[in-house]
Amino acid sequence: MAVDTRRWAVITGASAGLGADFARQLAAQGWHLVLVARRLDRLQALADEIRNAHRDIEIEVIALDLAQPDAPTTLLDRATTRNRQVHALINNAGFGTYGPFEELPWSRQQDMLLLNIVRLTELCWQFARHMREHGQPAHILNVGSMAAFQPTPFFAAYGATKAYVRNFSESLAWELRDSAIRVSCLSPGATRTEFSDVAGIDIPALSDRTQMESPDVVRRGIAGMLAGKPQIVPGFVNHLNAWLARLLPRGVLAWGAVVAMGGRAAMRKRGGGTP
Ligand SMILES: NC(=O)c1ccc[n+]([C@@H]2O[C@H](COP(=O)([O-])OP(=O)(O)OC[C@H]3O[C@@H](n4cnc5c(N)ncnc54)[C@H](OP(=O)(O)O)[C@@H]3O)[C@@H](O)[C@H]2O)c1
Repeated sequence: MAVDTRRWAVITGASAGLGADFARQLAAQGWHLVLVARRLDRLQALADEIRNAHRDIEIEVIALDLAQPDAPTTLLDRATTRNRQVHALINNAGFGTYGPFEELPWSRQQDMLLLNIVRLTELCWQFARHMREHGQPAHILNVGSMAAFQPTPFFAAYGATKAYVRNFSESLAWELRDSAIRVSCLSPGATRTEFSDVAGIDIPALSDRTQMESPDVVRRGIAGMLAGKPQIVPGFVNHLNAWLARLLPRGVLAWGAVVAMGGRAAMRKRGGGTP
């Protein structure tokens, strides 16, 4: 069978939020898509919407729980079927668990660690090998978070997963700098998606006002990825926060994160005073 040399992008977590906007915007740029998430109905509705807008775009939807151990192998096999060459992996699926660490269910936190860290890393490994093999210019974009820049009390494990994503992506970008593969890490701050509902965060009014819109974050993410930038921080407020994170003591940053994410209620519950 002849090699399919069209540009294919694999997008994880495409059933909502940033992932759905990655799909819409990459399709508008002529990319063919493999869309992955657990909710098949959502993926199919998105695929129909995109096919109606761009009739020449081919889309495959794959319902897959990426927390499962064999998910990365399954995804690579299905994404590269019919001799397709994948030119972009958008490692976007992820979620957070918000609240006092020891009160959050362990099974939920374990799934988060598996999805945000282990599967993301294995997907990079699987697809980097595939990309090296086909040798065409290719991109891996890992979605991190501004939570990676500071301690994040009540979002402790989530913030730590994103610190991993940031450091891992930067190292991988360096390792692969002489190859045709460019690795980028996109670090969104608060962005209007389903993320805060899933995490159980009641975002305070001030933070709500500074939230970015998902299409805007994704537009900056794609531009940075295609430019081969290792680190992409979208928007002025996030740039300011990244700059402050380099200057302020870690304890001050931790208080700031508690206030910004409405963690004072959790502190009162613990009897620990409020910032
Ligand atoms: N929104 C923000 O404020 C914000 C800020 C910083 C970083 N981020 C990061 O941005 C990324 C995208 O989040 P979002 O804001 O777009 O949130 P979202 O609207 O909740 O979307 C999350 C996506 O991940 C998918 N997903 C979750 N668990 C999965 C699993 N086990 N297997 C496969 N797919 C799974 C969901 O699909 P299904 O439920 O259908 O599986 C959904 O498509 C995440 O990595 C998040 O950490 C978000």
